[in-house]
Amino acid sequence: MDAIQGYRPAQSPETDPSTLSNYQDFKVELTTLDFDIRFEESKVIGKVTYDLKNKQKKTDHVDLDTSYLLINQASIDNNSAEYKLHQRHQSLGSKLTVQIPPTTPEKFKLTILFATTSACTALQFLDKEATDGKQHPYLFCQCEAIHARSLFPCFDTPALKSPFKFSAKSPLNTLMSGLFIKKESDRYYFEQPVPIPSYLVSIASGDIERAKIGPRSDILTEPVNLQACKWEFEKDMEVFIEIAEQLIFKYEWHKFDSLVLPASFPYGGMEIPNLCQLTPTLICGDRSLVNVVAHELAHSWSGNLVTNSSWEHFWLNEGWTVYIERRILEAIAVIEAKERGKNEADSRAYGEQVRQFNAIIGWTDLENDLKSMGDNVDKYSTLVQNLKNGEDADDAFSTVPYEKGFNLLYLIEKTVGKAKFDEFIPQYFKHFRYKSLDTFQFLDFLYAHFKEQKDALDTIDWKKWLYAPGMPPVDPKFDTSLADVCFDLASKWYHHASSSECAKDDNFKPSDISHFTSTQSIVFLDTLISYEKKQNFSWKNHHGKTLKRMAHLYHDQYTLSSNAEIRFRWYYLHVSGEIQEFKTKLGEFVGTTGRMKFVRPGYALLNQVDRDLAVEYFTKFENRYHPICRAMVKKDLGLK
Ligand code: BES
Ligand code: ZN
Repeated sequence: MDAIQGYRPAQSPETDPSTLSNYQDFKVELTTLDFDIRFEESKVIGKVTYDLKNKQKKTDHVDLDTSYLLINQASIDNNSAEYKLHQRHQSLGSKLTVQIPPTTPEKFKLTILFATTSACTALQFLDKEATDGKQHPYLFCQCEAIHARSLFPCFDTPALKSPFKFSAKSPLNTLMSGLFIKKESDRYYFEQPVPIPSYLVSIASGDIERAKIGPRSDILTEPVNLQACKWEFEKDMEVFIEIAEQLIFKYEWHKFDSLVLPASFPYGGMEIPNLCQLTPTLICGDRSLVNVVAHELAHSWSGNLVTNSSWEHFWLNEGWTVYIERRILEAIAVIEAKERGKNEADSRAYGEQVRQFNAIIGWTDLENDLKSMGDNVDKYSTLVQNLKNGEDADDAFSTVPYEKGFNLLYLIEKTVGKAKFDEFIPQYFKHFRYKSLDTFQFLDFLYAHFKEQKDALDTIDWKKWLYAPGMPPVDPKFDTSLADVCFDLASKWYHHASSSECAKDDNFKPSDISHFTSTQSIVFLDTLISYEKKQNFSWKNHHGKTLKRMAHLYHDQYTLSSNAEIRFRWYYLHVSGEIQEFKTKLGEFVGTTGRMKFVRPGYALLNQVDRDLAVEYFTKFENRYHPICRAMVKKDLGLK
């Protein structure tokens, strides 16, 4: 660890550079947030009250984050207070300063009346035609990383947490980031007793119904999709929670409900407390994408109880969450192996294989992501990020905190031993729950816990892991038992395409892939896609024939797949081979979903092979997308 002492911040947790608020001067004892949803005007008007403690009465003002908000009034202990909205910082928004009168006691209430504007980046209002039921409008919200400031004036930093009381008035069913308390004349009340940061605040309102899928879990979505969503998740939900509880400790938030959002939801999932939010692309009819639920559930500990203190330390949220997600999937595989009659040892071995298989998928994602970063790779591929120049956290988003973070935890686990690491997990989460921490606090706690294994931990090249760009410094040598069949088949196709004469009587047949699990198909397709980056090879040019043959043989399983992860990769492969009819398929596909994981690389590829077409599709679909997605694709395509 000595090599990184020069990086240690003056104090921990390190100050968050992505907020303009003076959060360090205050403790927030309670936040009361009341919304009034105006569908007809596509806006929300609101009132927020902070029960503040001015620590040692150090400051005479409160600085809050806002972004494109209208501020109508500020008051302190019910007396109107002087306030000023500062000029906008390009990515961090406009600081709101409220003066604290000199006679104000240490503890006081600050209330602000505000309204959102059409420039709000957190909210998406959907017309009824854009919903699946087509009867009612819909509103949803995405605040992570720094969009909460466009929804309400706040200390928009993960470093500061508060319990919340929420309410929202709406003609339609409404959900927020807490436990439902009551509904009174179109106003819905919720409470979140566990202190949470601003990025976990959420609101959704629309024609939303619920069904029970576990003893502490409901599924919520538009009525037309309710049965399909229920089926997709009901088998795994409670099992996931129990496995996570065994690995860490009891689930503290009481209910774990999930809301399947309209197609324009920009992520796969979002860990809203008590209301995990999911993309409808997970509803594939075979339960093969439930890992996203395991991931969001894992955030109930990593992220929501124990939180990164700034987006520079985002790996503490996501790396830990991917680690737990893969432990949950491992445990499920063990259970399934036992059900198939395998003994304890073999079942455990199989579980480990499944974990490593998932880790291989992540490793490939990481490789691909780094390649697509181009010139930004040095800036954005370190595990600990540098956002000190007011960078937009959305620009820094990639699989790096997820996969490099996972791999670092996996290496630590291997270094100290899995059984010892398992003892560490609950202690780490207990120690830091309700708090926010930086990477050095994690390391200090790790070293304090493993005093006896200091020398072993010192073999980890922390400086490279935390501060060097690019792939992790250690090759994890994952067990490829489950991936080999995928690699082998991909390699056969590669050789077929590379040979000058495409053999007519090759041995390929539709059944090549019929025994693949969905994840094996994903690895197979990822491998085919990755050949595109090999020297002297491209699926396009004279190799088009091979892809056409593949498209013919695997048409039923892949072109018609209900699994968005498979269909996206399948289209992507053919478009990189410049197969004309797949350009349209990919173009139409990015119009059916707003999930950035598909939409951004989809447009980026179309842009590469046919810029006019990419721009044409984006122009056609841009109004469907959530503002975050729209802004990112615009940047990616270089559109103003
Ligand atoms: N918290 C993230 C989503 C997020 C990250 C939103 C950063 C805004 C800024 C969520 O938990 C997540 O990681 N979702 C993944 C799930 C996957 C890793 C299983 C996604 O959306 O794909
Ligand atoms: Zn996550």
